[in-house]
Amino acid sequence: MADVYEVTTVVGREEVLAGRIYRTRTAGSFEYDSGYLRLRAAFALAPALGLFPGAQPLLPSNPFSDSAPDTWGRKVQNRAAGRRLDELTLMLGVNDEGRQGATRFWGDGVAMAAGDGVPVEADLADIIRVADQIERGETDIDEVAVRRLFRATGSLGGARPKANVRIGADLWLAKFPKPVGDDWNVMAWEAALLDTMASAGIDVPPHTTKRVSVDGVERTVLFLRRFDRTADGVRVPYISAMTALEANDGDGGDWVDVVDFAQVAGADTTELWRRAVFGALVGNLDDHLRNHGFLRRATAWELAPAFDVNPEPLGDGNAHQLALMGTRELALDSLMTKDALGLFGVKPSAAGAFLDRLRPVMASLPRCAAAHGADTHSVAVMSSRVEAAVAAIG
Ligand SMILES: Nc1ncnc2c1ncn2[C@@H]1O[C@H](COP(=O)(O)OP(=O)(O)OP(=O)(O)O)[C@@H](O)[C@H]1O
Ligand SMILES: [Mg+2]
Repeated sequence: MADVYEVTTVVGREEVLAGRIYRTRTAGSFEYDSGYLRLRAAFALAPALGLFPGAQPLLPSNPFSDSAPDTWGRKVQNRAAGRRLDELTLMLGVNDEGRQGATRFWGDGVAMAAGDGVPVEADLADIIRVADQIERGETDIDEVAVRRLFRATGSLGGARPKANVRIGADLWLAKFPKPVGDDWNVMAWEAALLDTMASAGIDVPPHTTKRVSVDGVERTVLFLRRFDRTADGVRVPYISAMTALEANDGDGGDWVDVVDFAQVAGADTTELWRRAVFGALVGNLDDHLRNHGFLRRATAWELAPAFDVNPEPLGDGNAHQLALMGTRELALDSLMTKDALGLFGVKPSAAGAFLDRLRPVMASLPRCAAAHGADTHSVAVMSSRVEAAVAAIG
């Protein structure tokens, strides 16, 4: 006997039944509902799940992986369960309120893992304390606190400790510094890059940093407004570039494929170029396919605001996860060639105008990082990278 779970999404602003997951002990499949297939505005929940009747496999490569936890979420869920959980259990176990995008899972008419909701800001210090304990691999942790962290973590991927937080009526994502292993104030630099991108005209989510005191030690926490919820809280369908390209974790990627998908899906490829340029200049080497995403708007998959853009010191080189036409070593010059501009559909005059806008804000990056709480060492570590970026823009 298979367990059956209903899968819903949002079309327009309406939550609709999209299909069902059938799960046996060893396998899982998904089947679209015939009513969904008849909807004019129906869209494939993931490119790997074509809009046709009949069962489609969910394993070994889960097309709903954006709904499943990534490194950090798995760590917390497995810790809360006290054992290693399988892919579908992990996916269904993610707290409903914080789920990425609009895909939800239901059993017997009740949303899976509809827990006590996400924490509020006042709980953050406690949550960070438990996150630290998990990150350090401690075993003697209060079980209630672990479960609370697990509810807060949701399906948000990534390796860095993080939690959903409700601020007023809105859902935000809080990214924490690691207890050990951060060689500089990573959160302050991430915030500074977001500020700079916004000043240069790149779309980023509303964000802010706050100092949270955990056991007397001040930590910089980065808050990002969730872009997969509308201002009035409606869920917006989301797919990562990894899902869009039917790739798997750890697969390399190439801007050529991301641009190709974006073009067909109705997203702005010139914005992708601006992000690629910014990423090349600041050494955003960890620009893998899960760090780019698309939001469903009307009949298009539009670009989600930029996220998880982080600088690397110049000494770490320029080899990006995401290659450009087969080359992983990227510099501004690589993105200014005729071929590159042609690929992204950027006119040379528009490229020049973007660099003119970027020049002054790039120079102000160290000041901006300091304003977000970066100490002298954290600022100094990145100074040669920023100087090289300013020099490259000329
Ligand atoms: N503002 C946002 N709104 C909604 N979802 C977001 C937002 N920012 C990030 N996400 C989602 O959360 C995931 C994790 O965030 P992020 O990539 O910033 O974390 P990370 O731990 O630094 O990741 P990595 O492992 O790539 O370093 C992203 O892959 C994305 O799916
Ligand atoms: Mg990430």
